[in-house]
Amino acid sequence: MNNQYKRTLVTTALPYANGPVHLGHLAGVYLPADIYVRYKRLQGEDIIHIGGSDEHGVPITITADNEGISPQEVVDRYHRMNLDAFERCGISFDCYGRTSSGRHRDTAQEFFREINAKDIFVKKKERHFFDPEKERFLSDRYVTGTCPICSYPEANGDQCEQCGTHLSPRELINPKSKLSDKVPELRETLHWYFPLGRFQERLDSYVQSHEEDWRPNVVNYTRTWLKQGLADRAITRDLHWGVPVPVQSSEAAGKVLYVWFDAVLGYISFTREWAEKEGSPDLWKEYWQSPESRIIHFIGKDNVVFHTLMFPAILMAWNEGRKDGIYSLADNVPASEFMNFEGRKFSKSRNYAVYLGEFLDRFPADTLRYSIAMNYPENKDSDFSWLDFQNRTNGELADTLGNFFKRSIDFTKAKFNGEIPCDCSDDDWNALGIDWKKSFEKLENAYNRFHFRDAAALTMQIARSANRFLTESEPWKEIKTSPAAAARTMALSVNLCHTLAVAWYPVIPHTSNRMYAMLGFDQTLDEAIRTGRVSWDMAMKPQLGKGHRLSGGSDILFRKVEDRDIAPELEKIERLLAEVEKKEADGDQTASIKPEISFDDFQKIDLRVATVTDCEKVKKTDKLLKLQVKLGSGHRQVLAGIARSYEPEDLIGKQVVLVANLAERKIRGEHSQGMILAAEGNDGKLHLVEVGGSDVNGKTVQ
Ligand code: MF3
Ligand code: ZN
Repeated sequence: MNNQYKRTLVTTALPYANGPVHLGHLAGVYLPADIYVRYKRLQGEDIIHIGGSDEHGVPITITADNEGISPQEVVDRYHRMNLDAFERCGISFDCYGRTSSGRHRDTAQEFFREINAKDIFVKKKERHFFDPEKERFLSDRYVTGTCPICSYPEANGDQCEQCGTHLSPRELINPKSKLSDKVPELRETLHWYFPLGRFQERLDSYVQSHEEDWRPNVVNYTRTWLKQGLADRAITRDLHWGVPVPVQSSEAAGKVLYVWFDAVLGYISFTREWAEKEGSPDLWKEYWQSPESRIIHFIGKDNVVFHTLMFPAILMAWNEGRKDGIYSLADNVPASEFMNFEGRKFSKSRNYAVYLGEFLDRFPADTLRYSIAMNYPENKDSDFSWLDFQNRTNGELADTLGNFFKRSIDFTKAKFNGEIPCDCSDDDWNALGIDWKKSFEKLENAYNRFHFRDAAALTMQIARSANRFLTESEPWKEIKTSPAAAARTMALSVNLCHTLAVAWYPVIPHTSNRMYAMLGFDQTLDEAIRTGRVSWDMAMKPQLGKGHRLSGGSDILFRKVEDRDIAPELEKIERLLAEVEKKEADGDQTASIKPEISFDDFQKIDLRVATVTDCEKVKKTDKLLKLQVKLGSGHRQVLAGIARSYEPEDLIGKQVVLVANLAERKIRGEHSQGMILAAEGNDGKLHLVEVGGSDVNGKTVQ
């Protein structure tokens, strides 16, 4: 880890501008990044947060096609919507750019030209699906068909939504073009590839140098890729929407840079835009090209290798042979796991989600920020539920923090004219039952190591101690028996309010600003931090002396979430769940009724009884089992997507039904010679069609 840094650049994965961001995105990427950035600003560090919209790529053109509008209209709409939601949530970007900008196009093309000039790219002629009616090559997502693993009839060419398997379009059964519904043809086309393997050693040592400080999931996942050996990756696509491939020849016509060469470079182009806006156009270099700066990419787990292998390799390719303008590689890539919603995965396509903007129309940003911070999916998937949100808002934010703050302010106003009645002594401060040194060390550690759940929980711990102190001191009694003791209690309490205003700033900044204002400051807390008047260390010590005046106002910090507030949400979930289940069920039914075939066609299928002799899981998949089956005197290897339904050892000895004359296919690099019949049960698991009774191995099934 770079501990000698002067500046930090934080980036957050660029969400596709083809839909509204939902709470899952917020939890995995944007909120943790914002918490970190705010903490560092509070520490007085030089840190910038760069993000923006990924406005290219097939998901966007698909949305445009579906809605009958232009891709530009799609990205304009969602860029604005997402930026607005992030602002309302207090995600404090220094720049929120767009990959459709001219600055971005120039930057991405500059990278392509530099690497192309060094002859690093590999050009390959290959056969791709082509829609003869629309006269267009079809990107993976423009091809749909039946999943070879789970038989879902509407799998995409890149991935099956039903079983999650990554696919290539040519693996689909009965492929068709999404543009015309026609059967696509294979045609030759030329593409530029990035030879990742060329950077294998350099990437190995890069990852090695970070194995101590990166999250284990990030290191392990990256290592798995490195171990397999790195293959060439296409960086161009046949698509009409994106950064044109900057090559003056007909070979490049109709081709754009592929998202992985394009989007990650957005981090750089947006930092340049930020520097221009700051009036210091070269300032971006201090963050990207200086050994004194650190770069941290906040991402979700689905984007790991693009940030630990591909983007670094692009930068290495740029750096190769250069004397100046050398880019630094990321110091850390804190990738999150996923946050689920009421026990199920968020799914945009199934409309099973809570969108950030909609949430903020109904509830304040800070209640969400706190609940999500407490559910940060740091090293395992977590879950967001309305009841958890209600409990945390009411029991923790309102009853603990809000209650303490209000009692402190109101009592000081009522009994001491809204002025701090005396100075706090160090002894009194240290006798509060809070080990200041230890708690703040723990907090700092939590923030620095991206343990944001711990950070929020530790801060709530301080609020609990403060609340307990006030309750146990009983100033409402003290004021009658010993006004001096009551004065001391209130001086300590109001100072604890200041501590909490500062310490809560990273997690619930809107509330911290309100607390700070009620404590009697004219400047906002944001401003006070920016100008260096307030810093993290100040939270550890009393700052408000005798005579400090509170402001006039005193609102409650958090309104409780009533049952009636979340009742419509709970109803909506039930409706959504019912819809999702219905869609799944409909999907299954349509799946069973494919276009009619003749009896002769049916006769072509040779179904046989086969006996499982051995079985193991396919590494790095959670769905696939590799079965060895005996068929007559021969043997076959068959891959089946049933690992979630059966343990390998359960299958040995079973007599199953095999499609024995299916052309051999390669799935995940493994040969599969046939297919085994199974049906989905109501439990969501697959159940193999079994032939009971005596040994009938090899017999025809009809
Ligand atoms: N838009 C893509 C996604 O959401 C890529 C984000 S990461 C980036 O998965 F670096 F490419 F921006
Ligand atoms: Zn599938």
